[in-house]
Amino acid sequence: MAKGWCHCQLARVPAGSITRQMCKDVTGPMTDQGGIMLEGVSYAVAGKPILSGLSLHLHERRIGIVGRNGSGKSTLLRLMAGLIAPTDGQVTVDGLNPARERKKMLSRLGILFQNPDHQILFPTPEEELAFGLIQMGLAKEAALDRAKARLRAEGRAEWIGAAVATLSQGQRHWLCLQSVLMMEPATILLDEPLAGLDLPTQARLARAFEGLTQRLVTITHDPAAVAAADRVIWLEAGRVRADGAAAEVTAAFAFEMARLGAQDADADLAH
Ligand SMILES: Nc1ncnc2c1ncn2[C@@H]1O[C@H](COP(=O)(O)OP(=O)(O)O)[C@@H](O)[C@H]1O
Ligand SMILES: [Mg+2]
Repeated sequence: MAKGWCHCQLARVPAGSITRQMCKDVTGPMTDQGGIMLEGVSYAVAGKPILSGLSLHLHERRIGIVGRNGSGKSTLLRLMAGLIAPTDGQVTVDGLNPARERKKMLSRLGILFQNPDHQILFPTPEEELAFGLIQMGLAKEAALDRAKARLRAEGRAEWIGAAVATLSQGQRHWLCLQSVLMMEPATILLDEPLAGLDLPTQARLARAFEGLTQRLVTITHDPAAVAAADRVIWLEAGRVRADGAAAEVTAAFAFEMARLGAQDADADLAH
């Protein structure tokens, strides 16, 4: 039976158990290939399940994925980006297998990692910005010209030729966002995009994200960061605990985190 999701309820429900007349928000059956599709996806390492039985069709413009440390958020992002393949089930992005169609993914899916230093490969900002374009087939000189033009257009002309190492953490994060945007992907995956940044940098980056026309999938442990999302999914121990409107899911998540925090036990799942 095809499955669907009722976004007006916290619970995930089989499409067959609720009709469109009863609930206009049911998204299944999953025949639409656009967006990110996970069908019965599980991921295990050495037999230890990390993600179990995830079926999701992510097509909204702003999607939040919340969960405490160790719930499987970053693993889910790596699966969606094709950096790892599922142990079971299938992941597709616009109908393509992201682990196999690496080149085609460049214009479809961008990733902003939590730590810019895990992402930056080159010593200068313009080389960093040009890299994706070169991978997409543009000649090196043309790619560098476009990268420099982008830096000038963004009011960062003085960064041309500078050492990336001299930029602040927030500036390196911004550079990573720009290098993703150079490839004009339809969807950007953001892993804890504001964690560890000072407040003005958080505000600046949040404004930059808000202005983007792309689909954004934001992974975070902070419910406030996804309060304005069209849809929020709560991951708990590698499974979907709730999936629905931001207000309801973030409130339920915050309540549960406060309840866990009130206990003495370590609430971190990652061990
Ligand atoms: N390659 C791996 N080998 C072993 N354990 C892993 C691996 N990747 C993730 N895990 C474990 O899976 C769980 C989920 O990790 P992760 O996806 O990073 O969670 P989150 O991003 O929500 O904090 C953690 O317990 C983590 O230690
Ligand atoms: Mg993580």
